Amino acid sequence: MVLTKVSNLEEGNVLSKSIYSSDGKILLREGVKLSRNTINKLKNYGITHVYIKNELLKKIKKKTLVKESIKKLAVSTVKKYMTIFDPPDTLDNNTKGQEELLNKEELINIIDEIINDICNCEDLFVNLRDIRRLNDELFFHSTNVAILSVIFGKILNYNAQELKSLGMGALLHDIGKLKIPSKILNKPGKLTDKEFEQVKKHSLYSYQTLKSCTKISEVSATIAYQHHEKCDGSGYPLGLTKDKIHPFSRIVTIADIFDALQNNRSYRSGLKNEEVIKHLISMTKDNKLDSTILKKILHYLVPFPIGSRVRLYNHKVNSLLEGAVIELNNDISKPLVQILKVNNRKVHKPLTVNLEEELTDYQIEEVI
Ligand SMILES: [Fe+2]
Ligand SMILES: [Fe+2]
Repeated sequence: MVLTKVSNLEEGNVLSKSIYSSDGKILLREGVKLSRNTINKLKNYGITHVYIKNELLKKIKKKTLVKESIKKLAVSTVKKYMTIFDPPDTLDNNTKGQEELLNKEELINIIDEIINDICNCEDLFVNLRDIRRLNDELFFHSTNVAILSVIFGKILNYNAQELKSLGMGALLHDIGKLKIPSKILNKPGKLTDKEFEQVKKHSLYSYQTLKSCTKISEVSATIAYQHHEKCDGSGYPLGLTKDKIHPFSRIVTIADIFDALQNNRSYRSGLKNEEVIKHLISMTKDNKLDSTILKKILHYLVPFPIGSRVRLYNHKVNSLLEGAVIELNNDISKPLVQILKVNNRKVHKPLTVNLEEELTDYQIEEVI
């Protein structure tokens, strides 16, 4: 199985993971042979990456932190709860129905399942590149931020009870966005100052919503309120500095930015893993993010995840290779790569390069 950009798909490629919409419906089933028409449909849906089968890579170890089924359930449940919320012009009316729904166990159970999967995983390398639709962005984003935050919380040694509050706050951190008119939220160009002021209110709306639910802890509500605060005081809504921001909010801020940078938005395409890492580091240098937390997490952020397709270059002999990462080494930037193409010609016999071996002159240029 190899993760490939939709723009690089060829007719006849076989899908190795089903693609779901946010309400859990299958858009394309695993095993489907892709035609030109289906490839175009994927592009129109706003899907940027898919997993395809590769005969040479049958032995790749499957490594997912959170089961696909749990993730699918999380996205559809978040969508169910979030879309119950009122349209923006009826902001203060009828919040009772929403509170009752949020007080049900369903969301809490999902966070439990996510925590369970993450706590039972031997190595927590963050290996997430998502398949999502642009118009369902918010639900996928919420689920991903919850999963990332729980992983980060686990890396930082928080206990199960603490992970619960962290995960729940992360899952619903942007719920207040449902109160912002969608024409502003999905505007392709730059927002006007007035529009941006409106968008900024979503963290307060999220806080108010969560605060009114008895089953949701004060800490979870605080996370939602503070997730756009920055350590140097330049964030919103209150402009708090680091020691005034709850540590869980600082974790969710990192997860939120991590997910936003990694994925396509209506106004720009997603950054590569190594660029995301660079960007996060530069934000700690500017004292925007908590550097102690990020430093601990960085050990687990994998620039070239298992299954990702990479381009390698050997400067000495001037040859270009394409391959897929099949195993991580201790130095996670130097994995074991199964070679698929040499100088643009398909390789038919299995050939692997271990980038950690001293004599290897190959370097990964980029994830393709
Ligand atoms: Fe937000
Ligand atoms: Fe967010």
